[in-house]
Amino acid sequence: AKEPMRVLVTGAAGQIGYALVPMIARGVMLGADQPVILHMLDIPPATESLNGLKMELVDAAFPLLKGIVATTDVVEACTGVNVAVMVGGFPRKEGMERKDVMSKNVSIYNPKLLLSRLMQPLTAKVLVVANPANTNALILKEFAPSIPEKNITCLTRLDHNRALGQISEKLNVQVTDVKNAIIWGNHSSTQYPDVNHATVKTPSGEKPVRELVADDEWLNTEFISTVQQRGAAIIKARKQSSALSAASSACDHIRDWVLGTPEWWRMDDCSGYACLPSFYMFMGCLPIDEFSRKKMDATAQELSEEKTLAYSCLN
Ligand code: NAI
Repeated sequence: AKEPMRVLVTGAAGQIGYALVPMIARGVMLGADQPVILHMLDIPPATESLNGLKMELVDAAFPLLKGIVATTDVVEACTGVNVAVMVGGFPRKEGMERKDVMSKNVSIYNPKLLLSRLMQPLTAKVLVVANPANTNALILKEFAPSIPEKNITCLTRLDHNRALGQISEKLNVQVTDVKNAIIWGNHSSTQYPDVNHATVKTPSGEKPVRELVADDEWLNTEFISTVQQRGAAIIKARKQSSALSAASSACDHIRDWVLGTPEWWRMDDCSGYACLPSFYMFMGCLPIDEFSRKKMDATAQELSEEKTLAYSCLN
């Protein structure tokens, strides 16, 4: 039998946490034959609901779940973890400025977390979900230099999956038949969902998405804005931000990272442009047209502004 892997979820008592931990305990993240020990961290005001979550996990009797550490102690939470999913943070509420959220959240990703000393720094894989995800990952990297840069990533897999979902609905095809979409840039409304290299499996072979959709106007406007604004649309409909799709995409991210995938997808690091090493080289060779370049420049500009803002909050 395999040794259990230790998976840390910060902010576990929140709504993404509630959707995410049962997925991990069911093997969605690391495979149906991989036992796990869940480390769940939250802050003291959430202690009771964290304990409630632990009770539910026990009650669900997950065969793969070999242990639960539910704690508000950062050191205990981080010790020995193989995978860290950083969901803990403050979501933006009505009337809050971007800077307010930023100053609350960047301080969570500073050295106080002690991540670098506590995890197995050379092998641990870190996924930052909490927004601003790219910038939080950047901060974490700056303050945890012993974790290799390539092991600190942030979640844009949700945006990627949203893009696949839109194409599959438009063409009325299975989502699994749509491949090689790319999300460039920030996990925000400036992101650029790019289907110039995407294909769909058809009975007569793989066809470019552009050829099958045959509506450049839709692809260049409505498709892009729907994916960019999807998070806001969910908040409007649910009065809460995306949770099950974020949790599921976090599982996709880690699963493909740990177990590999033949497909294209991007794992962000803080720059918003990095990915798996092999993918890195490969993306460098992609032809980028002028339309795409402009969209990529706009989102890169936003990332650089966020970085400046984040540093001003830290100082
Ligand atoms: P939530 O408010 O329901 O849960 C957040 C949890 O984090 C709470 O239980 C809170 O007590 C905890 N927390 C706050 N500070 C903490 C700290 N210092 N250490 C540990 N835990 C801490 O929020 P929700 O809906 O679960 O979202 C979490 C984050 O994920 C938000 O920042 C949200 O914007 C982001 N998000 C990112 C997505 C992505 O695709 N990258 C998609 C959806 C949400």
